[in-house]
Amino acid sequence: MSEHDTSPSDHDPRVVVVTGASSGIGRATAVRAASAGDHVVLVARGREALEEAAAECEEAGAASTLVLTADVGDDAQVADVVRAVLTEHGQLDAVVNSAGVVSYGRTEEVPADVFDGVIRTNLLGSVNVARHVIPVLRSQEEGTLVLVGSVIGHIAVPTMSPYVVSKWGIRALGRQLELENRDLPDVHIEYVAPGGVDTPIYQQAANFAGFEGRPPPPVSSPERVAQQIVDSFDRPRLRSQLSLANEVIRFGFAVLPAVYDTLVAPLFDLAAKDLDRPVEPHNGNVLDTQQDGNQVHGDQGSALGGLARNLVRMVQEVAVR
Ligand SMILES: NC(=O)c1ccc[n+]([C@@H]2O[C@H](COP(=O)([O-])OP(=O)(O)OC[C@H]3O[C@@H](n4cnc5c(N)ncnc54)[C@H](OP(=O)(O)O)[C@@H]3O)[C@@H](O)[C@H]2O)c1
Repeated sequence: MSEHDTSPSDHDPRVVVVTGASSGIGRATAVRAASAGDHVVLVARGREALEEAAAECEEAGAASTLVLTADVGDDAQVADVVRAVLTEHGQLDAVVNSAGVVSYGRTEEVPADVFDGVIRTNLLGSVNVARHVIPVLRSQEEGTLVLVGSVIGHIAVPTMSPYVVSKWGIRALGRQLELENRDLPDVHIEYVAPGGVDTPIYQQAANFAGFEGRPPPPVSSPERVAQQIVDSFDRPRLRSQLSLANEVIRFGFAVLPAVYDTLVAPLFDLAAKDLDRPVEPHNGNVLDTQQDGNQVHGDQGSALGGLARNLVRMVQEVAVR
């Protein structure tokens, strides 16, 4: 654990806990809360990248930063985080569970420990966070828990089986928590489902599918998602689907399943894979942190450029046959 006091604030700073705070959406959320003058508690497995993110938060104007290393998949570690925050600040105003991992590969190709690891971090991690945060919010009779899901929690996509299962589960958990906490109008459960976001998660993923993944267009910035999350602390009822494209995809999946099933695999190859980046099978960051790869943005470059390059490759392959 490490702590730094930074600039004083002229309004009441909130106590904001962010898991997955060393990279992507979580890191952008931590910085966004910091720039609003909040106390920011940054949680992930790798300390060094968390310390870097904490320094960015201090620069952005955080009332204070607190770095806590923990694996959200470990219930006791999550309990320790909540205890440490209460010892330090005495309250929890907002908790954003953004810790998440991905694996690529058909269901039967992903090794059991990796499959379980994705479910453990994404789904059981969300449950662990809820288990220890909700009682605090309920005893305060106020506060917000934000669960970061995905548009993939509403659909099926090729080669992302444990991720799909985990994200459907997070959506179910969010709905369940909403129901269970209806009696306290100032306790808010927010569920957010981004589409493609420009973060390192695609390179950090475990991969048994042969090619690196990439965010399909339209790609949002992690800062945009972070803004919507932090805005929801003051104005609850976050619009869960963050882009119109999500609505279109969900509509196709639910209303035109035969069309969806025919199109999804070729569209996934075209827009969600990087055919210029073949990869050997590897576990990525699913079982352990790879904190050197943690940063706010990914390195996939332009989504439309990637899509065009994939299209050229696919046409060339058809021409050669
Ligand atoms: N990027 C997208 O296109 C996209 C789209 C929809 C939804 N999402 C969701 O948004 C969330 C954040 O994704 P991102 O793209 O920002 O990913 P990212 O850049 O890879 O960041 C993931 C963060 O989670 C931490 N983490 C991973 N496993 C953990 C564990 N077991 N315990 C604690 N921390 C852990 C990582 O640090 P350590 O490895 O050091 O622990 C890192 O800080 C995820 O839930 C993801 O599913 C992302």
